[in-house]
Amino acid sequence: MTTTMVVLCISFIFIQVLIGHAEKRILLNDPDVILSQMHDLERKYQDILVKYSDLSIKYSDVSTKYSDLATKTADLTTKYNSIPLKTSASGVFVRWGRKDCPSDNNTELVYSGFGGGSHQSHTGAAAEFVCLPPDPNLTTKFTSSFSYMYGAEYDSTDFGLHDGDDLPCVVCRRKTQSSVLMIPGKNSCYSGWTEQYHGYLATGYYASKAASQYICVDEHPEALRAGERNDDGKWVHSVKAVCGSLPCPPYHNNMYLTCVVCTK
Ligand SMILES: *[C@@H]1O[C@H](CO)[C@@H](O)[C@H](O)[C@H]1NC(C)=O
Ligand SMILES: *[C@@H]1O[C@H](CO)[C@@H](O)[C@H](O)[C@H]1NC(C)=O
Repeated sequence: MTTTMVVLCISFIFIQVLIGHAEKRILLNDPDVILSQMHDLERKYQDILVKYSDLSIKYSDVSTKYSDLATKTADLTTKYNSIPLKTSASGVFVRWGRKDCPSDNNTELVYSGFGGGSHQSHTGAAAEFVCLPPDPNLTTKFTSSFSYMYGAEYDSTDFGLHDGDDLPCVVCRRKTQSSVLMIPGKNSCYSGWTEQYHGYLATGYYASKAASQYICVDEHPEALRAGERNDDGKWVHSVKAVCGSLPCPPYHNNMYLTCVVCTK
């Protein structure tokens, strides 16, 4: 390509651009064009109005449905929360040393009574503590004398009460939870469990002829003066740790065990 041809080409393009620019100027100043553009805008505006009104209706519809759903969810939540109360899920435990159940709407008192068991000197007697009802139904059907029921007594002043004071007990029912666990050596529950009460681990005298059982006596025990007499029947003593096969630490010689009753 020669220089002349290049110059000619560039000139041609330059002229075309100038003409185009002039044409646009003419078009923008044309009232018909402006009017047509305004009509166009008007149509688009109307279109937007229609769509907006449409959206408003749909939004109101969604709002109504959402509010409906919220009501239903609240209703379901209420019903769901009341399910445990309607099922038969429940756990029963004895609170030793007390006449009342833990104050909680979901724990109810079954009966408040007297701690009892067999005599600590009777070899072969029953080992466990029982919570005897205050309104027993007794019988004269038998005449033998092979087994006895004694009242349980605090056999020291360890619990802040008199030696010989009788041990009350209360049977409680946890309405919404069915698992009951007494943990010897803990005074609080592990995570996820609900504490019913805590206190001190107790059992019979180690040198008694009769076997006994570990029970959890409440931290603030009460005394019963029901039988009054110090019978030395079913004894209640605090429990001391002995290192050896028992790992120390975490246990310690001459330290006593706490206890807690938990439900879940
Ligand atoms: C226990 O129930 C009573 C009466 O129904 C209520 O006023 C109280 O708030 C409830 N307490 C708890 C801890 O739920
Ligand atoms: C058991 O004793 C209670 C009161 O202590 C009495 O109301 C009930 O009738 C007795 N039960 C029977 C079967 O006699």
